[in-house]
Amino acid sequence: MLKRIITLWSFALALLANAHEGMWLPTLLKSIEGDLQAAGLQLTAEDIYSINKGSLKDAIVLFGGGCTAEVIGQKGLILTNHHCGFGAITDHSTVENDRLKNGFWAASLSEELRNPGLTATFVVRMEDVSDRILPLLEAGLNEAQRRDAVNKLAEGITKEAVAGTHYKAVVRPFNYGNSYFLIVTETFRDVRLVGAPPSAIGKFGGDTDNWMWPRHNADFSLFRIYTGPDGRPADPADANVPMIPRHVLPMSLEGPREGEYAMIFGFPGNTQRYLSSYAVNYVQNTADPMRIAMRTASLGVIDAAMRTSDRTRLQYADKQAGISNAWKKWIGEVRGLKELNTLQRKQDYEAAYTAKAKAEGQAEYAKALTTLEGLYGQYVPYATARDMFVEMVYYGPEVLRFTDGFREVVEEHGKLTSEGKYAQALSERLTASESYFQNYDVEVDKAVFKALLPIYRKHVPANLAPDVLKEIDARFKGNSDAWVDALYAKSVFVDEERLRKAFRNPSAGAMKKLAKDPLFRATRSFFRSFLEQVRPTHAALSDQIETAMRTYVKGMMVLYPEKTYWPDANSTLRLSYGKVEGSRPRNGVTYEAFTTLDGVLEKYVPGDVEFDVPQRLIELYRAKDYGRYGVNGSLPVCFTSSLHTTGGNSGSPVLNGRGELIGLNFDRTWESTMSDIQFDPDKCRNICVDVRYLLFLIDKFAGAGHLLEEMVLVQPAMQTIALPLHR
Ligand code: ARG
Ligand code: GLU
Repeated sequence: MLKRIITLWSFALALLANAHEGMWLPTLLKSIEGDLQAAGLQLTAEDIYSINKGSLKDAIVLFGGGCTAEVIGQKGLILTNHHCGFGAITDHSTVENDRLKNGFWAASLSEELRNPGLTATFVVRMEDVSDRILPLLEAGLNEAQRRDAVNKLAEGITKEAVAGTHYKAVVRPFNYGNSYFLIVTETFRDVRLVGAPPSAIGKFGGDTDNWMWPRHNADFSLFRIYTGPDGRPADPADANVPMIPRHVLPMSLEGPREGEYAMIFGFPGNTQRYLSSYAVNYVQNTADPMRIAMRTASLGVIDAAMRTSDRTRLQYADKQAGISNAWKKWIGEVRGLKELNTLQRKQDYEAAYTAKAKAEGQAEYAKALTTLEGLYGQYVPYATARDMFVEMVYYGPEVLRFTDGFREVVEEHGKLTSEGKYAQALSERLTASESYFQNYDVEVDKAVFKALLPIYRKHVPANLAPDVLKEIDARFKGNSDAWVDALYAKSVFVDEERLRKAFRNPSAGAMKKLAKDPLFRATRSFFRSFLEQVRPTHAALSDQIETAMRTYVKGMMVLYPEKTYWPDANSTLRLSYGKVEGSRPRNGVTYEAFTTLDGVLEKYVPGDVEFDVPQRLIELYRAKDYGRYGVNGSLPVCFTSSLHTTGGNSGSPVLNGRGELIGLNFDRTWESTMSDIQFDPDKCRNICVDVRYLLFLIDKFAGAGHLLEEMVLVQPAMQTIALPLHR
């Protein structure tokens, strides 16, 4: 009986307390079909996900590793975000032919640009295989043993699933391993760049506007999937042909209407809906604040440096964006969690849960919570050390990771030489160094190191910190700046000339000497302390937390079976639904649902890196030349909807009740970012490019109207033409 409840947990058909929370598994939509249709869906669950006939899911693409894209053209044309296509666009850009800056539009198939390594993956089918796994797991396995046992069973299941096909299959845990799904996919390997607007349009507003509403950028780019002549996935090749899709999303010329049903279909990465209060406490009061502090410090250095010269600006633009995106998100997350009083709510829930479990004789569920409390007491110092290692080494001074790249050639000279691999390994390192130093400014890097070190030392428990830091007190009277100065002054790893010289005669003796290089020693110490003192215990405790969470969330479903549960996002295909609507993010503040081109011009700062506007767009604006895409003398640009989304939903299609594309998801508002942990229907909104702005840019701005010929454009229904339109 219990097992039945657990396997069927996602089928729970209770009234939704909260209509828009949740990222639903496409295979389980049948169980909420009534809710979807009551909310305004005009299709059936089978129209959205079917394994027997073409359905919406056949148009949804996992783009590369972490974004979503969708098929919008009969010849395999796909749409995703500009920031998802960013790598491909920059790869095809040079100073002489700056496609990133100027935009790019292939006039014909032959002009489309290949991107080796870029993939487009479709979901062929998903299937609940919990019954083929859970009953076969022995009781009392620890987490590592359980993983092994699951992997063995999964191997058989996936082999059987792909037999005789070119598909791939995986079995993924859902809901802390309370259920398992088989996912069969088809991956295409020839994905070509078709079009991208100038970055002044695709990234309009830059980091200033990132995570913010009102928003005015068209964060989109276009690609095309190619197959071998036989229609199957193939490596990039001349003989390849455009893919013939199973489903093409129609584009709604009517666009989104305020208050109408909307849904999003894509690959959300990671949510943590069921966290305990102990975990929320760590995120809100320790992890986020210290990570924010680290990045505030490094951004202070980098932003100032970027203002001093164009050279530094270009060198650091990408790194700055990478650091600031999560930084800004965490600031919003902490604020949101506090406003929603999430911690207190979790504590109240846990108290009620514990009482109920005890009253109903389900003591093991209550015990899971006590276990979690105890585990978090041990886990927090290790999680702190790990999170700060990541901030310091992966987002801090670049020299640490760069130097670590030389570990093998310095420390394993003898081994590599005897295997005849030394020359090759060294030459790879030195080649990588060339592009590294092109975007490296030693003064900026040193200043970042100095800015981060005190914050790092303040948070990381002394017994989990690198030994090398003891030198600061022992030899530098506690002056960490002086210690950093000394590292950089003598190291060869901060200067290309010095580095080449140091490796000119890479003898065993020379490597012995290099092992004493001050930055090499410091880097080794950072990595060694992490790998030896932090990671093993961190991993063991994480495993135990996973085990306890499995029991805790199972208890939720047993103790409160009337509630609806959705499994946390895990980069698998999901559907969320809600409405096109604005929001009330804070007391006294209302956000409208739509922006227009007028707002682009309001933000216009000629020559600015973030807020410049291309001349041609200004001309079209002055002439009000919007063609069929304009509405009452204006042009819709972006809109918000109450769809539960997270990172990975970038590039996902936002569809109306008929399954027509009305927008392209690319962000959330700042007041929404706590929705990974707690969703709030009044505050949480995702941000989309309006389909009419997309079509206007492709058709009128770029003159790439030929692309519209392969699209399915849906004319506005007669009765809606006369309605007052949103501004
Ligand atoms: N905030 C969006 C996301 O999380 C967009 C990021 C890219 N844009 C930017 N200005 N950095 O991915
Ligand atoms: N920009 C995010 C992404 O790249 C989506 C925004 C969000 O986290 O909701 O997936």
